[in-house]
Amino acid sequence: MTMTDSVTAPVRILMCAPHHYDVDYVINPWMEGNIHRSSRERAEAQWTGLYQVLKDQAQVELVEPQKGWPDMVFTANAGLVLDKTVVLSRFFHPERQGEEPHFQAWFEAQGFTVQVLPEGLPFEGAGDALFDRGGHWLWAGYGFRSELDSHPYLARWLDVEVLSLRLVDQRFYHLDTCFCPLSDGYLLYYPPAFDTYSNHLIELRVPEEKRIVVEEADAIRFACNSVNVGRVVVMNQAGDRLKQALGDRGFTVVETPLTEFLKAGGAAKCLTLKTTEPRQASPQTSSIQSRIIHLEGHLLDSGLVNKALDTITSGGGSFQVLNFNLGSQRQDKSAAEIKVSAPDAEVMRDIMAQLVDLGAVTTADAPQPANLEAVVQAGVAPDDFYVTNIYPTEVLVQGRWIQVQGQRMDGAIAITQNAQGQTIATCKLLRDLCIDEQVVVGSEGIRTNRSGSSLKKASTEEFGFMGAGVSSERRVELVVEQIAWDLRQIRDRGGKVVVTAGPVVIHTGGSEHLRKLIREGYVQALLGGNAIAVHDIEQAMMGTSLGVDMKRGTSVHGGHRHHLKAINSVRRCGSIAQAVEQGLFTSGIMYECVKNNVPFSLAGSIRDDGPLPDTKMDLLEAQADYARLIEGADLILMLSTMLHSIGVGNMTPAGVKLVCVDINPAVVTKLSDRGSVESTGVVTDVGLFLSLLVQQLSKLTGQYAQV
Ligand code: ARG
Repeated sequence: MTMTDSVTAPVRILMCAPHHYDVDYVINPWMEGNIHRSSRERAEAQWTGLYQVLKDQAQVELVEPQKGWPDMVFTANAGLVLDKTVVLSRFFHPERQGEEPHFQAWFEAQGFTVQVLPEGLPFEGAGDALFDRGGHWLWAGYGFRSELDSHPYLARWLDVEVLSLRLVDQRFYHLDTCFCPLSDGYLLYYPPAFDTYSNHLIELRVPEEKRIVVEEADAIRFACNSVNVGRVVVMNQAGDRLKQALGDRGFTVVETPLTEFLKAGGAAKCLTLKTTEPRQASPQTSSIQSRIIHLEGHLLDSGLVNKALDTITSGGGSFQVLNFNLGSQRQDKSAAEIKVSAPDAEVMRDIMAQLVDLGAVTTADAPQPANLEAVVQAGVAPDDFYVTNIYPTEVLVQGRWIQVQGQRMDGAIAITQNAQGQTIATCKLLRDLCIDEQVVVGSEGIRTNRSGSSLKKASTEEFGFMGAGVSSERRVELVVEQIAWDLRQIRDRGGKVVVTAGPVVIHTGGSEHLRKLIREGYVQALLGGNAIAVHDIEQAMMGTSLGVDMKRGTSVHGGHRHHLKAINSVRRCGSIAQAVEQGLFTSGIMYECVKNNVPFSLAGSIRDDGPLPDTKMDLLEAQADYARLIEGADLILMLSTMLHSIGVGNMTPAGVKLVCVDINPAVVTKLSDRGSVESTGVVTDVGLFLSLLVQQLSKLTGQYAQV
């Protein structure tokens, strides 16, 4: 390039005098607070300064400035030139779109072949696309002004490899504000302006000794917005360290003040366009991938579209909404068709996997079947296995969509044959995978349904405001009213309510209320650990909980041994049920379970004393037991036990209402944030909650009695 610059044809640069320049509007953060704050006089002087400097290095040409288009001075945004072809800019903001015909006329007059992008596909020229001086490719930015989807056009029209870089800091909204390829393969740039993936790409292409990293202080003075001709680098301003770094590599920095233009978010490079860009690249392609996905359901209600679009951009892709069919009422379904683009296949795969989880379906002409891979080691899935979520899922196998059975979170989908020779899909835990079993890998041929049953269930029962959310103390009573109503409905139709409870239920005086719920048929299964049972039985036998008198709230002499005495006594009987039978204790939560035939499961942990004979210390067995008791549940009430509740949440498919009560908002948020509408969090004392709940239920009974 150095050769081309100095020996062969002279470098030609296009500029536009600032006769109509001003900050008239705000389309980037630099313009904020600067409307009409720049001095035309100073701008003219500074622009002329730059013009003079460049005239020594190159042949500067001028395009006629146009009244009403103040940003036309920034000729970098006119288009992208390679050889005799120019890809004309399509400005993102209407404020600049009027510049397009003027630049087009200039290019045509100069004999360029002008390529025009489809309408609605923004690309802002050399502001967002820079040829690597030492290499054979084009760096193209996206994220703020130019659309990723414009990049394949560049690759095709200019016949060059395009490397897409995603900009993430809005101060550096154009690639040329934070990235400047220099002669001999050097690169001047500000890494924090790019996402991780882009930085990785840069590091792969530009060896470390060629990368000159600019500090923030220089970056915000637009040091990266430099014009490089040969060994000269022209910029607004540079700190000493940067000048030194460039000097060490044989570059001479020429500073020329451009502060008036900084007010519009531009400096030296923005004010110029190199119109001699000789082709050195061998024909190349772009690795950009595109897919069209289809989303359907209560898209607005559930915030699904937002989530999907966020997933795409934060995953490093970009999107174009092709179609959005809004339902006319809140309960109506809507549908969206979105074109997803990603810089390469790997990024696309990651994004697609997440979109499938959100319920997206790829709309190829013919949907692709699910990819299957055999298990080669028992209990271990193939690397790229699809991880399940709580939503109803179908897979496309042998030309048919089949429903996955036993839906739960964090499993793999195994495809097997049943006794009748039918192909079935089952959600399996990793440890349960058998050798030679076929497992779904990748994200092709999978669809999940976020809208269906769960939402319907919630709305037909007027679970109204119980949409996902965490209530504060103020709303507790209202929420309790709803939960009471729901418990009542479920009991009356013979449904199933499962309670997970921690020992806090006992310490906060909730025991008597939970006992009442069990007695009155509101609870169909109880899940917990060793502790809740021990504390409950200690209270029933000795009136203390961990040695504290539950009535007086004071420690009892020698009380710290009480819980071990309770454990020991139950161990003597052989089980909790036998202890009840033998009359060891005659009240309490466990007592009510035994007496009312409510099954319970106690899962052990490393800190358990004893344990009670019923406590399952084999955790695999405990998990299986929990899963069995959860099956068919309509509602799960999680009372102050993070550990057991998370375990339960993981096993529970969507469509089951979860009510999580804890004094710690973090726990509540963690548990009720399943992204499904049917979970409710209540931040309050669990003893208080249970007492309110029982009160509400008896009020309901009173109402029923009156009718
Ligand atoms: N005010 C102009 C805009 O926001 C500044 C353009 C700067 N140009 C550049 N190549 N970075 O569009």
